[in-house]
Amino acid sequence: MSEMINQVEPNISSEDIQNVSEYLASGSWITEHKVTEKLEQNVAEYVNRKYAVAVPNGTIAIYLSLLASGIKEGYKVAVPNITMIATINAIIWAGASPVIIDIDDSLCLSKDSLEQAPDVDAVIFVPLNGRTGAGLEIQDYCKNKNILLIEDSAHALGSSYINQKCGSLGEISIFSFTPHKIITMGQGGMILLDDDDVYANIIDLKTFNREKDKSDVHKGFGLNFKITDLQASLGLSQFNKLFDFVELKRNLYQEYSKFIDIKYLKPFEDYETPWFVDLFCDNEKQREKLNMYLTSKNIETRYSYPSLSSQSYLSKSDKTYLGISENISNNILWLPSSTNLSYEEIKYISDEVNNFLSA
Ligand SMILES: Cc1ncc(COP(=O)(O)O)c(C=O)c1O
Repeated sequence: MSEMINQVEPNISSEDIQNVSEYLASGSWITEHKVTEKLEQNVAEYVNRKYAVAVPNGTIAIYLSLLASGIKEGYKVAVPNITMIATINAIIWAGASPVIIDIDDSLCLSKDSLEQAPDVDAVIFVPLNGRTGAGLEIQDYCKNKNILLIEDSAHALGSSYINQKCGSLGEISIFSFTPHKIITMGQGGMILLDDDDVYANIIDLKTFNREKDKSDVHKGFGLNFKITDLQASLGLSQFNKLFDFVELKRNLYQEYSKFIDIKYLKPFEDYETPWFVDLFCDNEKQREKLNMYLTSKNIETRYSYPSLSSQSYLSKSDKTYLGISENISNNILWLPSSTNLSYEEIKYISDEVNNFLSA
């Protein structure tokens, strides 16, 4: 291929462009209003939650979820050792203490490992890459122990835990809408929940905690975490194509699986939606060499997240035994995973992966 194949790129159609242009031409005030409300309603309905609140990004969505639920200094929050850095940084931002927990075979938080940390006040479960692991069992565990469960579903819009959609696990869930996510509006995040009081807290924190709309008298501390209807018009247009994106992601994985030896892949359940196609190398050295080889063939890849426990600034965090996550985190390579990849491109990438692996 003469042009670089990106590891991922947004899929923006002429319909998206038309929808955003029509919004701009409508003379609207651009800031957050009716289009955002419509997007919130549609996403809440889709995941079967009472409320959805749009915010500027997924990191803020986790932060507000913690804050509005009363999680602050002195509270302990469990977090899986493999996740994007935003998950743990939101805990630290809220003033609470993270407890880093090992993963299981699904690459998601391990319930056995979570049981080794019985004194946590909250758990953040991450359906990493659309895999849902022990999410339902952890939901039961948290319910029985009266532990707050937050679901960081940044990767997992359109994926499910058997019959329950990602975005509906535990008390609060969040999504992210950056350009490499399942749908995008440039930047953006959403909080999904059912509780009336926590919802009211989130709205207060998000909108300067005004006594009433347009009032400059404030009930207490609050910030500005509103989005714009300009973003929401793209978000809504993209959300209307969610079923197509889900199909495209599933097909992408199926196509790769036809060409690449299954021992390097980890199959998904029928009810799950892959976000990225992850290749499991034998070790870190092989991953590095494969990455270099594919780059020389104009194929961009990306290393999966290093374990949180390997980040030096987090070294003093509480943790359980982390053997599984520390062993695997440096072996995973994300292959090109855009929904607009052609069959020829997938075949070309797979052939080059096979050339390397069989050499
Ligand atoms: C698992 C996970 N959580 C949270 C975030 C943060 O989302 P955002 O980039 O919208 O702040 C990301 C971003 O990639 C993520 O992958």
